Amino acid sequence: MISSTERLNIEEFQNDLINWFKAEQRDLPWRKDQDPYKVWVSEIMLQQTRVDTVIPYFNRFIEKFPTIEKLAEADEESVLKAWEGLGYYSRVRNLQSAVREVHETYNGTVPDTPEEIKTLKGVGPYTAGAILSIAYGVPEPAVDGNVMRVLSRILTIWDDIAKASSRKVFEEAVRQIISHDNPSFFNQALMELGALICTPTSPSCLLCPVREHCNGFMEGVQNQLPVKTKKKSTRHVELVAVILKNTEGKYLIHKRPEQGLLANLWEFPNVEKSNLIKPKNIIQDYLKNDFDITIQIDKESITNIQHVFSHLTWDIEVYTGKIIGQVKEENNMKLVTEEELLSYAFPVSHQKMWKGYQSILVK
Ligand code: ADE
Repeated sequence: MISSTERLNIEEFQNDLINWFKAEQRDLPWRKDQDPYKVWVSEIMLQQTRVDTVIPYFNRFIEKFPTIEKLAEADEESVLKAWEGLGYYSRVRNLQSAVREVHETYNGTVPDTPEEIKTLKGVGPYTAGAILSIAYGVPEPAVDGNVMRVLSRILTIWDDIAKASSRKVFEEAVRQIISHDNPSFFNQALMELGALICTPTSPSCLLCPVREHCNGFMEGVQNQLPVKTKKKSTRHVELVAVILKNTEGKYLIHKRPEQGLLANLWEFPNVEKSNLIKPKNIIQDYLKNDFDITIQIDKESITNIQHVFSHLTWDIEVYTGKIIGQVKEENNMKLVTEEELLSYAFPVSHQKMWKGYQSILVK
């Protein structure tokens, strides 16, 4: 046994933690029942996204795709549209392929063993543990960044949580202290404690239901934990984009590649800037050379959009313009009416371009 759990009175800790969760848990839509499909959707949405943001997306998603079968049978475009704005779109593409596998291979029932569930696309150790414990009551750890923060303080674990290898240390600790009577509430209580009390900066120790059990608090080191080294700084990319209309009033949109950032989402044509060539000329040359599309760009840019990803920032200068002559709808280029455009899934930065464009039209 590792020394950090030795000092803990495990049974009392479990009781204090679970009783607090029973009394104080937030009323969240995915807690209404233990449907493994809904738990799964919520856990995927909650990766890298705040609870407040997730709630309306979750409700709309479940209304549109209420069962494994409905999501398995949906077309990818409508699924991406339902995820539009949540970011990290590979999450939903993986979710849909995994749901299709459950539909086909497991007769529509989410597997209830670690071995099987971990083979599903996008289901890593955290998601597997969350579904197994919350939906099926299996005592498996569900360790994400929040749970590592909470446990680093309670058990004074000094491993660097930015390192992938540290997760195993925390999983091992959970295996030693998880309640076998109620693994679902135990894991959810750790998550809830991280969200409500044991927050990243200035944790509310005086309100904490497990303060008596917290080694970090007793040693006065709660503010030094968790140890988390800084990530490399983000890359900065400058782009020029253009909203283009043809003589029939249709707009030109482009589907992003199947792999990589924002895969399969739609966007307005854009290209990286260069120091040597004017932005207007770059986008003009790009469309001519790569797609044989001739355009005429309006004089002034209409807006600038910034978007921050976890590893990258975009700074986009946006122009408007006209298409001269014909466009071949190939190489992922498409002409759409305004109404059609609204049914395609766009990244948030491109939705903002569209809003910026709409606002100058009404002026
Ligand atoms: N964060 C990750 N999973 C969660 C859950 N099930 N409830 C609340 N916050 C969460």
